[in-house]
Amino acid sequence: MSDGLEDVVAAHTVLSEVDGAAGRLVMRGHSLYELAGHTSFEEMAALMLDGFVPDLPAMKDLAAALGAARQELFETVVQKAVVPVTHGPVEMIRAMTALIPDGEDAGTVLRLLAAPAVFTAASLRLRQGLAPIAPDSSLSQAADTLRMLTGKAPTKQQAAALDTYLVTVADHGLNASTFASRVVASTRAGLVSAVLAGIGALKGPLHGGAPGPVIEMLDAIGAPGNARSWLENALDRGDRLMGFGHRIYRVRDPRADALKGAIRRLGADSGRLALAEAVEQAALAILRERKPNRTLETNVEFYTALLLEALGFTPDSFTCVFALGRTTGWLAHAKEQIAGGRLIRPQSVYVGPQPRQAA
Ligand code: ACO
Repeated sequence: MSDGLEDVVAAHTVLSEVDGAAGRLVMRGHSLYELAGHTSFEEMAALMLDGFVPDLPAMKDLAAALGAARQELFETVVQKAVVPVTHGPVEMIRAMTALIPDGEDAGTVLRLLAAPAVFTAASLRLRQGLAPIAPDSSLSQAADTLRMLTGKAPTKQQAAALDTYLVTVADHGLNASTFASRVVASTRAGLVSAVLAGIGALKGPLHGGAPGPVIEMLDAIGAPGNARSWLENALDRGDRLMGFGHRIYRVRDPRADALKGAIRRLGADSGRLALAEAVEQAALAILRERKPNRTLETNVEFYTALLLEALGFTPDSFTCVFALGRTTGWLAHAKEQIAGGRLIRPQSVYVGPQPRQAA
């Protein structure tokens, strides 16, 4: 019995390795530093799914196939579905994704890769009372995501920054949402069901729901000089500091620096970055004082918040953009589970009362 399945090994995978002691992430034989900033969403999807989806279009045709899938989803889901705009953006993309027919084939894979791009932009616009913008299938997925959000073609730097983010978060071992996807895939329920399980798990603040609250924290702190007292008060209340700590990393999450580099290359608001750096330093110092027995370092979500904010996403939609990147990993893991894994079915220890013996 291991609470939270900590240290339990539940799969062999060729997809990614997280070295929590060295702060190293490898995806399909490439280090994060080789991939982030040098690889597009499409190239990453092709890399992760290589060998798992035989009918997936070759790399040279993948961008066009994804463009066609975005177009199809816009016509069949966005223009037809009625999803209440009172739902948060993650709940809206979850509801729209549920309308895709289940399956395990290449068409389903393409639709699921395209879905968060179309549904995130549409959800955010609908919530603002604006009409969704149809996809442009000639663009890359990153560029089209930003265009569907604002109606304007993004700069090359903006599209490259989003690609860097999507590649950085594409996969990360057996994290909670990936495990949830593998559990569902192991029952052969289909890839849509597996991705829906992933979205459900990702949404929680202990996993992919943290970056929105990072923005709330930065806004509440306001200026570097307020950081220490604000953070002390938060910990006194028993709150966790969002963007810090990790189940596996005992050193700094390497994804934090990959994203910080992308923020610098984007030339985003330097005052905002300076505030974030001051908050980060104060938080790390206080966490060291208060939790000397647990190494708590900056995780991916801290600089995710800054990067996605600089790209024009609202904090409540950050998890949707995370899902856009992580769907690649969920699908690859689901396919790997289907190809070689057994039904995932652990045991529990019953500690409740036993029925009374018949007299
Ligand atoms: N702020 C304050 N204290 C923390 C934090 C934090 N961010 N993270 C852990 N701790 C404390 C816990 O309260 C606990 O203290 P205790 O032993 O006195 O009770 C101790 O450190 C150990 O924490 P665990 O709960 O065992 O850590 P776990 O491995 O279960 O959790 C997690 C990891 C969920 C990421 C945690 O660090 C956390 O809640 N962080 C804040 C939310 C966050 O940033 N989530 C995004 C994670 S990255 C991702 O999923 C993509």
